[in-house]
Amino acid sequence: MLTRVAAPCILFFAIVFLIFSASPYAKGRRVNIALSNPEPKAVRAAPGDKFSWETITPSEELIWADCYADNQCARLKVPLDYSNPDAASAAIAMIRIHSIVPHNSTNYRGPVLINPGGPGGSGVDMITRRGSQISTIVGPEFDIIGFDPRGIGRSTPRASFFESRSEREIWSSRGNPHTMSMNASADALPRAWARAIIEGQLAGERDDGSLRFINTDHTARDMLRIVQAHGLEKIQYWGFSYGSILGATFASMFPDNIGRFIIDGVADSENYYANEWDNDLIDADKVWSSFIDGCVAAGQEGCPFFSPTATEISEKMDKIYATLRERPIPVRTNTSFGLVDYSMVRRVIFQALYAPYARFPDLAQAFADLSAGNATALFKMSEQPPFECAYDNSGDRLESVLEATFAVTCNDGSRILPGYEDTVTHYQKMSETSTWADVWEPIRIACVAWPEFPQKHFRGPFVANTSFPILLIGNTADPVTPLWSAHKMSQGFNGSVVLTQDSAGHCSISGPSICTQKYVRQYFLEGTLPAPGTVCPVIGTPFPTDDVQISTDAQTVLSLSAADRNLFEAVRDLATTFDIRFPIGL
Ligand SMILES: *[C@@H]1O[C@H](CO)[C@@H](O)[C@H](O)[C@H]1NC(C)=O
Ligand SMILES: *[C@@H]1O[C@H](CO)[C@@H](O)[C@H](O)[C@H]1NC(C)=O
Ligand SMILES: *[C@@H]1O[C@H](CO)[C@@H](O)[C@H](O)[C@H]1NC(C)=O
Ligand SMILES: *[C@@H]1O[C@H](CO)[C@@H](O)[C@H](O)[C@H]1NC(C)=O
Ligand SMILES: *[C@@H]1O[C@H](CO)[C@@H](O)[C@H](O)[C@H]1NC(C)=O
Ligand SMILES: *[C@@H]1O[C@H](CO)[C@@H](O)[C@H](O)[C@H]1NC(C)=O
Repeated sequence: MLTRVAAPCILFFAIVFLIFSASPYAKGRRVNIALSNPEPKAVRAAPGDKFSWETITPSEELIWADCYADNQCARLKVPLDYSNPDAASAAIAMIRIHSIVPHNSTNYRGPVLINPGGPGGSGVDMITRRGSQISTIVGPEFDIIGFDPRGIGRSTPRASFFESRSEREIWSSRGNPHTMSMNASADALPRAWARAIIEGQLAGERDDGSLRFINTDHTARDMLRIVQAHGLEKIQYWGFSYGSILGATFASMFPDNIGRFIIDGVADSENYYANEWDNDLIDADKVWSSFIDGCVAAGQEGCPFFSPTATEISEKMDKIYATLRERPIPVRTNTSFGLVDYSMVRRVIFQALYAPYARFPDLAQAFADLSAGNATALFKMSEQPPFECAYDNSGDRLESVLEATFAVTCNDGSRILPGYEDTVTHYQKMSETSTWADVWEPIRIACVAWPEFPQKHFRGPFVANTSFPILLIGNTADPVTPLWSAHKMSQGFNGSVVLTQDSAGHCSISGPSICTQKYVRQYFLEGTLPAPGTVCPVIGTPFPTDDVQISTDAQTVLSLSAADRNLFEAVRDLATTFDIRFPIGL
């Protein structure tokens, strides 16, 4: 067993990775206050992959087998290369939460496909962990379907270019740029670039011929196959974050196959396919400000890192940064050990920006401790389970891996110039857009030496008269998918509507809003869209504020109908346990 020193596995790249886990530091404290029953609902622990996917033979028809407690799983056989469909095939791993009504009931509403983002995110993981809340929101008349997009997780062939788990682990535990701030040292950026040269070479040399087919175009085609395998023509879909790029791609390629379609946490697909990554962060500083302002407003009682003014809190942060740059702090816990350094603090904050309701209180406590010289809490916020060498083969073959994200982003994106100067120029430009460029830049760098596959896939334009109008959802302050992109993408889709949620955090489910999720449910069930310009509030704030507010929130919750209370519990659970691991790091 190797211990992951300095928790190198919180990887920071993809647009998001809505991998959810039962987080020890997400206790749902704020919104729980507003509930008559304040006990946080037990969050089901991530089920190790006890189910043996090899027992399912991939088939072109959907054959469901029981798996993971009370779900069903299937592996759908699809062409590896859609331009040569009789050649090799791929197998898409799927999981289903069955509707509560039988499929021959008139109340049955068919499958809803879910994508958790990434790219590189596993839909199977998302559904095993958070499927019941998603099902509560969408409605029990629907089947909820998670799938691992091609190349990822349990879908085969897998995008993987290390020869063993140990080889990958050893490589990634030493100066992995996805755990580094590019502002940590003078050589952080050139090192990230140099490492990407090696990774690009490995990707090319170790490719068995399948790597070039791991892209969003083909995943969209796979989604259509999933729909058709159900005997249906029209898709019902809810995609988060990168799932908005997958969604915009699908809707542009197959506009006549749209039944119900929500993209939530909407990225600018044009910018993504251009491999630019330079307008994702335009609201990230707004989210960080909401931490500072929220802490000031919450007072000493509500925020352990309190100071009377935002300026004073910023000064305390600068001091933490400066101190850690000079001297990292050694930390030991009973399960691991490592250093809290500048990079780690940057990453932990950035990660918290995705999920203020789950993380801001812990972040404030960790900073208060850090200011007093105790780095344990901060370390724990990025602590990873120890790396186990002795997994059996099935575990080895099915876990999500880092390379799957590169495979998708680099295959999808335009080629970037391989020279280091181009990376420097890009980083400088990014730094002018956001103070979080240091943690975002490595995503694009991963493609500097990617193999030069022919690029024949769909990459726009993202316009369509869809067979049903699509619903886009954006938060007023989303760190990586700004509201601006939802409006931009909406322009291409005739009849589409943008629903705004007034909260900080990534995707609607990072904030507890009954309003938003009722619109989601109505849309799926009745096909009604919110009026253009609708803005939904959330209940509560990440930091406890004053008693008046708390009691107002409590009143709101107490006045809910039983059905809405149920919905509220689902949104509260999602928001307060929303735990992002940048690709794969579970
Ligand atoms: C629906 O299917 C179930 C079991 O497959 C069957 O027992 C029932 O009679 C069917 N109902 C209708 C209305 O067809
Ligand atoms: C890098 O860090 C220094 C010191 O913390 C800070 O002043 C500077 O703004 C940072 N630069 C970037 C590009 O993040
Ligand atoms: C670590 O220590 C805490 C507190 O002493 C204890 O509750 C926990 O079980 C320990 N964990 C392990 C893995 O030993
Ligand atoms: C540091 O903080 C942790 C909680 O995160 C606490 O358990 C520990 O006792 C503290 N260490 C010291 C030396 O105060
Ligand atoms: C949508 O329909 C309108 C009118 O029928 C047509 O002018 C327009 O070109 C269509 N747009 C797309 C993207 O097909
Ligand atoms: C949108 O769809 C309507 C109805 O099909 C059509 O009349 C209109 O021209 C379309 N608009 C655009 C901009 O494509």
